[in-house]
Amino acid sequence: MKCSYCEKESIIFIRRTGKHYCEDHFNQFLLGRVKKYLGKHRIKNKRIMVAVSGGKDSTVMLHVLWQLSEKYNLEIIPFYLDLGIKEYSKPCGKSVREISEMLDLDLIEVSLLDFAGFTIDDVAKKEKKPCRVCGVVKRYIMNRIAFENNFDFVATGHTMIDEAAFAIHNLYSGNIDQFFRTYEITRTEKKRKLVGRIKPLYYLMETETLTYALINRISYCDLECPYAEGHPIQKQKEILLEGEYKFPGFIYNILRSLNKIRKKVPLESSVQVRFCKICGYPTTGDVCNFCKVKMKYSKR
Ligand code: AMP
Ligand code: FES
Ligand code: ZN
Ligand code: ZN
Repeated sequence: MKCSYCEKESIIFIRRTGKHYCEDHFNQFLLGRVKKYLGKHRIKNKRIMVAVSGGKDSTVMLHVLWQLSEKYNLEIIPFYLDLGIKEYSKPCGKSVREISEMLDLDLIEVSLLDFAGFTIDDVAKKEKKPCRVCGVVKRYIMNRIAFENNFDFVATGHTMIDEAAFAIHNLYSGNIDQFFRTYEITRTEKKRKLVGRIKPLYYLMETETLTYALINRISYCDLECPYAEGHPIQKQKEILLEGEYKFPGFIYNILRSLNKIRKKVPLESSVQVRFCKICGYPTTGDVCNFCKVKMKYSKR
């Protein structure tokens, strides 16, 4: 089959665009989707901490932002958090170091054990699934490191299906506050010590980031977190992919409609700004979730 834009052989057919792409035109398509995101949110002249887990999506995100950094005048610094998960964290860290070296970028590397005195494996010894605690520490540490180092944004490698699955999961579980709080961008609020979050892969699917990694020979860590198996989000993704197969564009259309619903409901702006009495970072109570988790699990 020929590429829909030139005479070369096609390497991928994208059902939701109805087009065939050769390597060059596919690269243009993928970069175009990230440019669409950066343009929509007017992201230029910024200092961005790029959170890279070593997996395919965030590794591809780093590579793409690096390619676009001159055009958009972005200062790109990769960040890796070693969660201390046996047989997973070490190879992931190695991949992040490799891509950072390849792109000649200085890497910020933090170890959860050094930062907080425990690892996610320590949590797993006491809790059946450590994912909730893992989410708390990732969010906190990313924000704190980015705030202390004066970054404008933290970029994460969430793709369209991650976002749609998370939104559906929140609706299904009745986490309505969380549903309304999760959007494609959050702005920086210096007074609240909150660094904004961006998701440059928001208009892309995982098959597309995988294709980009393969054709551009980007090596990444192919391991799944051992604790991720059976997580409800995985099931939501399977359902969404079935829908996408039957109705190309299904996931994007759902996400677009959910975003319209979000816009119709005004955000509660009256939530009082409070700061944790232990660490001084934002919280809704006296003590933030991170400090609570640290008190429970730290071995120091
Ligand atoms: P997850 O929460 O595992 O679905 O990961 C979502 C995003 O968070 C990834 O695409 C990365 O951008 C970021 N991330 C996850 N784990 C790490 C990590 N250990 N170090 C740095 N960034 C991470
Ligand atoms: Fe956090 Fe798997 S990456 S529990
Ligand atoms: Zn082509
Ligand atoms: Zn705290």
